[in-house]
Amino acid sequence: MSSARAVTLGWQGKNEAFAPPDRGHAAPEIAYACPEGRGELHRGDNLAALRALAQTHAGAATLVYMDPPFLTNRMHDAVLRKTRVTGDGAGGRGIERTTVPAFDDRWSDQAAYLEALGPRIAAARDLLAPHGSLVIHVDPKTSHYLKVLADEIFGFDAFASEIVWRYRRWPTKTQNFQRVHDVLLRYRKDPRVKPRWNQLYEPLAASTIATWGKTKQRAEFAKDGRRTRSTATSEPTQGVPMGDVWDIGVIAPISRERTGYPSQKPEALIERIVTGLTDADDLVVDPYAGSGTTLAVAARLGRRYLGIDQSDVALEIASSRLARIVALPDAGGLTCRG
Ligand SMILES: C[S@@+](CC[C@H](N)C(=O)[O-])C[C@H]1O[C@@H](n2cnc3c(N)ncnc32)[C@H](O)[C@@H]1O
Repeated sequence: MSSARAVTLGWQGKNEAFAPPDRGHAAPEIAYACPEGRGELHRGDNLAALRALAQTHAGAATLVYMDPPFLTNRMHDAVLRKTRVTGDGAGGRGIERTTVPAFDDRWSDQAAYLEALGPRIAAARDLLAPHGSLVIHVDPKTSHYLKVLADEIFGFDAFASEIVWRYRRWPTKTQNFQRVHDVLLRYRKDPRVKPRWNQLYEPLAASTIATWGKTKQRAEFAKDGRRTRSTATSEPTQGVPMGDVWDIGVIAPISRERTGYPSQKPEALIERIVTGLTDADDLVVDPYAGSGTTLAVAARLGRRYLGIDQSDVALEIASSRLARIVALPDAGGLTCRG
């Protein structure tokens, strides 16, 4: 569609925030490097880091996944757990929990939040290959604003999908429908280029299995082109092509996956994005790395990865998580044990 009369989001002071970047950004500090040279974690502000990376990695990434703070207007704490000897003389062990500040999600106003995200989305776009995708993970409070802002940065035609991550959470009664979903906006770098795409499938609905069984259906058409009743084949089906509403559980409190980092996303969610949008050896970038979920999944699946975070707690958790990873043997043979 022509963008001769592009629709954009406006607010006072917006143009200054989107001023062209200065040149000559210093290379970011490396907080962790995979011994095999397959991945790095950078310390510092991600805008400076993304702009520095653009000097060496422009067009090199197949996937950028961004999971910024959600405009909660509060500080978020990590809960660190350490096993310690209890001192009862019997060599007993207990878990010691410490709460430490992890990241700050306080903003002067909504405009300040959008002014932070917009230039970072634009800088991340510069790292993408023409067949690559950017996924922005937000919640319904900000997703509509970011959709319009990202349309402006990528172009309206580059929008690929709005994925709804639907999860179960502890039920509470409020005078509203309980929020049980996040929003992931996917953009393509260049919609004219065939995207990196691996078709994923989801299981058939119980009603489909009851009517048709578990084999493939063949669509049948009448002479006038109208669809008629489909016929069953004997070929087994892989399921139905994955839709854009994903039912994936949050990380359980006792799960081994839980790091104690606030807002940690489940590996199952990230695995779906990485598997669908990248191949082995492709570069995956996460400028809001947090506990390193994206990087850990990318490493395990044999992708290369680059992460950025400015929180020391995040960097410590992500580094030790990455150092423990051993990739699947059939996914590029990566071993990255510290
Ligand atoms: C919502 S958390 C990401 C959680 C992550 N996806 C996970 O699964 O653990 C957002 C992260 O972005 C980081 N962050 C926020 N603003 C940043 C900035 N300007 N530069 C670098 N990191 C930033 C925070 O320190 C925090 O770790």
